[in-house]
Amino acid sequence: MYDADHARPAQSGRRAILHDMEPTADDFLGAALKGLSSTPKALPHRFLYDAEGSALFDRITRLPEYYPTRTEIGILRDNAADIAARVGPNVQLVELGSGSSVKVRILLDALDNPYAYVPIDISRDHLAGAAQAIQDAYPDLRVEAIAADFAQPFDLPPRGAGKRVGFYPGSSIGNFTPAEAESFLKLWAGRLGAGAMMLIGVDLQKDASILEAAYDDAQKVTAAFSLNLLARANRELGADFDLKAFRHEARYRADEGRVEISLVALKDTEVTLDGRRFTFEEGERLHVEDSWKYTLPGFRALADRAGWEAETVWIDPDGLFSVHMMRVRP
Ligand code: AVI
Repeated sequence: MYDADHARPAQSGRRAILHDMEPTADDFLGAALKGLSSTPKALPHRFLYDAEGSALFDRITRLPEYYPTRTEIGILRDNAADIAARVGPNVQLVELGSGSSVKVRILLDALDNPYAYVPIDISRDHLAGAAQAIQDAYPDLRVEAIAADFAQPFDLPPRGAGKRVGFYPGSSIGNFTPAEAESFLKLWAGRLGAGAMMLIGVDLQKDASILEAAYDDAQKVTAAFSLNLLARANRELGADFDLKAFRHEARYRADEGRVEISLVALKDTEVTLDGRRFTFEEGERLHVEDSWKYTLPGFRALADRAGWEAETVWIDPDGLFSVHMMRVRP
């Protein structure tokens, strides 16, 4: 299927398995050239998460303004026993975009004898460390990490006797357009297979002031996260973005239900990438990322079109965030 490597050299404990399909620098170059040639200019958000970007994102999740992480953790903690009862014993838990594998511990602690944990993340180095930390904390668990863009085609390891359960927390589904989210959920219904379930965190539509603060924090960590995309292009692709020539901006479009995140040119500026020159006029936007927000019925309808039927949904008392449990429609 693919080559297996290991997250760490041999030590006393069990080692997490790592399947490495991380996109190469060529993918980044091609995508960056395409994005800079389009109107409006854009850089694809999946490249935000190199080691530096992942570390910055971890800091974002702890910011006072960024409510999604702590709210979702509260929902998972409050309902862990119910979740475990609904999925049953011996599950293969497949986490999509696992990052630091923090939230999954709430599930692993509650689940009845889980068979395996399969974290999937685009950032290989970050993934390897996080997978090994889970392996060390749960020595009897089979941990089989996959470094990949989880929208790309690949096979999952065999699932054993229990159910396959997808876990997609953090409202990362919101970084796709609704059309992309639908195709993605369709793809994963097929990949997880008949009888599978999915637990997915989905951020809810709310007041613009809460959302814009969450995506443009006072400490400017989110700004550094966006700017790291340019810094990464400089580091890895030999580009020469002037980071001081851009400012981070987050605007909530209530009509569309999305926060638009851009880098705005503070002055006329230019960048050379792979021998090609791209110019920015003062005020021009480089689109970095959208974060779509849903209503409960809006998300259920989208998931239904993708082949998922609703099992249940949990929300926090303030109505900020939702965690949906759904199953592949037979
Ligand atoms: C990963 N994703 C769900 C985050 C979000 O809330 O859309 C990414 C992010 N970008 C800036 N802050 C957080």
